[in-house]
Amino acid sequence: MAETAMPGAADTARPRCPVQARRTDGVAGVTELSAEARRFLLDDETPVDGDREQRLAAALAEIRATGGYRQTTAELAHGCRVAWRNHARCVGRLHWKALRVVDRRDAASAEEVFAACVDHLRLATNGGRLQPVVTVFGQRSPDGSGPRIWNPQLVRYAGYARPGGGVVGDPLHVELTAVAGSLGWRGTGGPFDVLPLIVQMPGEEPRWFPLPGDAVLEVELVHPDLPWFAELGLRWHAVPAISDMLLEIGGVEYPACPFNGWYVGYEIGARNLADTDRYDMLPRVAAGMGLDTGRDDTLWKDVALIEINRAVLHSFHRAGVHIVDHHTVTRQFVTHEEREKRRGRATPTDRDWIVPPLSASTTPVFHRTYTNAAVRPNYHRQPPAWR
Ligand code: ARG
Repeated sequence: MAETAMPGAADTARPRCPVQARRTDGVAGVTELSAEARRFLLDDETPVDGDREQRLAAALAEIRATGGYRQTTAELAHGCRVAWRNHARCVGRLHWKALRVVDRRDAASAEEVFAACVDHLRLATNGGRLQPVVTVFGQRSPDGSGPRIWNPQLVRYAGYARPGGGVVGDPLHVELTAVAGSLGWRGTGGPFDVLPLIVQMPGEEPRWFPLPGDAVLEVELVHPDLPWFAELGLRWHAVPAISDMLLEIGGVEYPACPFNGWYVGYEIGARNLADTDRYDMLPRVAAGMGLDTGRDDTLWKDVALIEINRAVLHSFHRAGVHIVDHHTVTRQFVTHEEREKRRGRATPTDRDWIVPPLSASTTPVFHRTYTNAAVRPNYHRQPPAWR
């Protein structure tokens, strides 16, 4: 998955890329929906019950009568896996067939959606042996409404803007933290405060639910050789479960479909903890190491960056939580590309997201060329639900 190892790398792994052109703001017209249903259901790969032409005819009749159609669980599960395979920003796609699909289209209340998200976290965490999972909630109605999870991931840390400037916690989530506050949530004000899950059902106000502590596995970060590193008090959550993207399969849109894989170390070590607009830890690690931070050409940032990344990988391994390093995941990605090629398929790839943010040229993907094409089914960004 992940926009990453979604399990791919999703969301914040590489920022600032153009959104794939595709409307997510409204309702697919009946003509487009019918065309996509046809394309999906007539595809030999799609597992339909019985005769393919009959299945399509039934879906088209349902679209004419109701403005939409319902996919079978087998169609849905296949669509979820192929959407992962098609997701150009995910470097973890080797494992696309292993995606576990939980069909929760029946979840009719915010409580049920929340409970299913907690189930998702437990299934995905699996005691540290992470499993790729997607949970699919209700599809968009012809009027455009559907369930939404407001959080970008099931587990995210709050960011508290300090009156005098600066942020305690994750600056990426200052806005969501304020939104949660306006709904009545109060955090502890600490740097790693897990945000509540905010769920909105069609036609209802959003509701927030605290995640049970035992559903959120976290890893405390220590360094293999630098004892003082532990005193920085850093930690990260085990499961990256993207929860704000929209899944489109055969013209049907699922605006709430949390999915996860496992982390690539650099997502935490080279971005979440290192970016100057995130936890910004390079200066502190460099200071701890006694590096000369007065000049760029001492490469203190690079040295500190590598040590944070070593700490992340070491700590996850020590805690028995699955994670992958950038050398391994990019090699797996090349294996995936080659496998796909043997099956006669291209691997649409957004190179900006596939090349690691550190040590790029030491990985095989840096030296290969890639082409991208928006292919369906797929996972798409959609505007934040609160705007
Ligand atoms: N980059 C995001 C983060 O650091 C996670 C995106 C999904 N990544 C993944 N490995 N599935 O939280």
